[in-house]
Amino acid sequence: MVSRVIPVDEFDLVIFGGTGDLARRKILPALFRRFQTGQMTKDSRIIGAARSGYSNEDYRAEMKAALEEFLEKESRPAREVKAFLERVHYVSIDATGKSGWKELKALMRPGVVQAFYFSVAPSLFGPLAERLQEWKCALKDARLVVEKPFGRDLETARQLNKTLRDYFDESQIYRIDHYLGKETVQNLMAVRFGNMLFEPLWNSQHVDHVQITVAETVGVNGRGAYYDKSGAMRDMVQNHLMQLLCLIAMEPPSRFDPDAVRDEKLKVIRALDPVPAENIARGQYVSDDAGESYLDQVGNPDSATESFIALKIQVSNWRWAGVPFYLRTGKKLKARQSEIAIVFKDAPHSIFGQDVGRHRNILTIRLQPNEGINLRVTIKEPGPGGMRLVDVPLDMTFKEALGAESDDIADAYERLIMDVIRGNQTLFMRGDEVEAAWAWTDPIIAGWKERGDRPSPYDSGSTGPEDAAILLHREGRKWREIRA
Ligand code: BG6
Repeated sequence: MVSRVIPVDEFDLVIFGGTGDLARRKILPALFRRFQTGQMTKDSRIIGAARSGYSNEDYRAEMKAALEEFLEKESRPAREVKAFLERVHYVSIDATGKSGWKELKALMRPGVVQAFYFSVAPSLFGPLAERLQEWKCALKDARLVVEKPFGRDLETARQLNKTLRDYFDESQIYRIDHYLGKETVQNLMAVRFGNMLFEPLWNSQHVDHVQITVAETVGVNGRGAYYDKSGAMRDMVQNHLMQLLCLIAMEPPSRFDPDAVRDEKLKVIRALDPVPAENIARGQYVSDDAGESYLDQVGNPDSATESFIALKIQVSNWRWAGVPFYLRTGKKLKARQSEIAIVFKDAPHSIFGQDVGRHRNILTIRLQPNEGINLRVTIKEPGPGGMRLVDVPLDMTFKEALGAESDDIADAYERLIMDVIRGNQTLFMRGDEVEAAWAWTDPIIAGWKERGDRPSPYDSGSTGPEDAAILLHREGRKWREIRA
């Protein structure tokens, strides 16, 4: 199936931190792919901005190297790369000083969409926002894109929101959570609100519990300094897993528009109960393939930071009262596997007697790899010999169902950057949402500090610490398998 590409309006996108890792690894490759599809119009421009004294040519050479490093050879024909790089410019700028701003102002074109991507440390958000206004680089409806981490607690997030709003309106601020740009995450909304089938069952009367797993095989190598100050709770739960939880738990918004969707997500976050210590399991991996432990990799032998976390969460509202949401995420686990499983209750009465076993419908939404949806339904085991029941999957892998090569499924950054240009904030976090998520997260982290809790060790390549399994076992449930 060939998807229809609608070109976006002409734009100038300035990337502060234009020589940084995110620009090289994600932003430029994403823009190149949108350029290839024709969605980025030919007069649109990308302007890298950073401190290095590069010329346009130096920067293009550096971005060419980035495309070569991060895209498969077959997917980047030389002619297309050359045409794309002609749209790439550079300005050497001092984020906290005066140099470069006049040059940037001279480059900006009125009459096209303007977007400024802050791919820099949060401490530079304020100085950049201030200078964009001071030097009149930003037009009235210019857009700001900011990356996570958006603060490290409620206080710092509030401060960041205030800083940005001193210079820009909330309607101009696009806070990225790249999970919201993933194909299947949006499919969650399509499945829930585009079908009659699921929504009537989507509540505490029919759902036994929900599991959200984001398992990674990578460790923290190379990002140790950042990660050790964050841990899985700040790095993954406060943002990515929280967003997934919101999309599952929220009430149907009246329209698929930014504020209607974000209002409903906010209500979910505000309905989350505080999480007592006994409903949390934290872990730290003890060795990886090279024999290195988390502690070796972060270079901090006393670190009490978790590389794994599992939580049991309650959403206190009419729809979800009494339904546990179990979340887990960790590094150096057995496999890379992200999925959401809605486990339905047992049928109220078995007409087949007790010896046919326990059969449950489970709806699984696979985020990665192999994006797709799977519904386990109970049928009769084929053949003679009486009524025996088995569970079989109704399985749909998007790649197969839609005839799309998995490579054709746009990367989250491609989708999100194009949404910025379109001026659509639906898949971006609003300031109050981020603050509410921190307000829920802060007391949990403060509790660990007060009690001096330490994470339990787990083997690299395992499914996490034993405590995580116990969290469900004690309630007669078990985690879904993480399959290598
Ligand atoms: C990032 C985290 O936001 O998401 C990383 O900082 C994590 O630690 C990554 O590895 C996971 O993203 P994805 O898209 O690979 O699941």
